Amino acid sequence: MKLLSSLITLCTIQSVISSYCFWNTGCPYKYFSNKTPYNSVRGDIRDSAIKLTGCEPVSIWSLIRHGQRNPGTEFGIHMKAALVISDYLKSAYEKGDSSLCAQDIENLRNWPINKDLFDKPFQLTKEGFLESEGIGRRLKQAFPKLLENLESNEYLFRPAPGPWMAESVNGFVQGISSKPLTIESPRTDFDILSPYDNCPKYLKEVKTNPETYAPSMKYQTSSEYLVSKDRIQRRLGIDYPLTPTNITALYDLCRYTSSGITNTFSPWCALFTTEDLKVMEYVADLRHYYKSGYGTPMSELFGQITLTDLLKSFQEAKSGKGRKITAYISHATMMDMLHTALKLFKDDAPLSSSKRKPDRKWRSSKLAIFSANLMAVLNKCNKGPDDYNVVFYLNEEPLQAICKEGVCTWKEFEDKLTPFLNTNTEFCNVEPSS
Ligand SMILES: *[C@@H]1O[C@H](CO)[C@@H](O)[C@H](O)[C@H]1NC(C)=O
Repeated sequence: MKLLSSLITLCTIQSVISSYCFWNTGCPYKYFSNKTPYNSVRGDIRDSAIKLTGCEPVSIWSLIRHGQRNPGTEFGIHMKAALVISDYLKSAYEKGDSSLCAQDIENLRNWPINKDLFDKPFQLTKEGFLESEGIGRRLKQAFPKLLENLESNEYLFRPAPGPWMAESVNGFVQGISSKPLTIESPRTDFDILSPYDNCPKYLKEVKTNPETYAPSMKYQTSSEYLVSKDRIQRRLGIDYPLTPTNITALYDLCRYTSSGITNTFSPWCALFTTEDLKVMEYVADLRHYYKSGYGTPMSELFGQITLTDLLKSFQEAKSGKGRKITAYISHATMMDMLHTALKLFKDDAPLSSSKRKPDRKWRSSKLAIFSANLMAVLNKCNKGPDDYNVVFYLNEEPLQAICKEGVCTWKEFEDKLTPFLNTNTEFCNVEPSS
């Protein structure tokens, strides 16, 4: 009890203590935008599954982001180069220039870094596999009757292309079933799991267009960012002038070497105050917002295309010809687009590149974390043959924002999704002359 109350005290006064130590803070900030370990922030479908009297689940549809993976080639190179900063930190501390705590520096210097992190870009980590496996396992426990002894025509599992997607779906299926189940191969032509990848207009005008990333770059010149950068530089007390690239690399070391499964935070996170971590988080929120969220009108359309699969899948289940479970593994981009199509987490004003709004709805630490998932459960209820409803869950918690308490009547569900059937990818064709 005494420990608990001292932890609470630490949490509340942490921001006013000047020499704050990371190693003994009771409440490290755990929102690492699109690299947040799933287990740090997830709910638990076994506790949160909504049980409605007179109803029983008949079908589940879900889209899941792949689990934690190693950084891509480019980011990995920067992270590897930044490791040397650990030596600068040590000498700055010895010279008395650093405000970091002795224990934090010691922990950082002893922190093992798995070489695979840099040498095997994009590879799913063990943590990532366990994230996916955990989702499958908990889902099975939450819906035991529905998911036991699945016959081959009762399920569909498919990943988007990429070895880390394939590994994630393997984990998920292992969690669902102790006997092996068939997994569909990824589609390399058009697929609803990443429709934007086959859209020349999106690739040209958004994905590879520097304008898309301009708001995030601009924020890195805002006074808020510069104050944070300056604060980091001063706390570390190193002569080496840190660039935004170096700071991103240090941030990546913090988030990629933290674990939600064992609930351990990387000592690399000690280089940042909570306020700094919030600034880093916003840099990523802006990228997501303008690349795959409300910042580009195409996001909504791609999300609609994918959601027609949910509609059709439940219409079939309702007619008695459907599957018990459909699960797809895809990218953070796709997750963002689903939310955009459903008009969820939409702020009144576009995200600003000069000032972060602390209570914004668009948060990559919620929408685009590792293993982020959107699930829908179709329930058949006993008040007549057409009595169905659909419950939505985000990261294993009821998605309150979509319908009252996360439960949509069948009519609300159809009214929301049916217009999406008119969406197609004709807009993707770029004029031959351009
Ligand atoms: C810091 O970033 C610059 C590029 O902005 C890079 O050339 C340099 O190697 C980085 N230094 C460290 C220690 O990571």
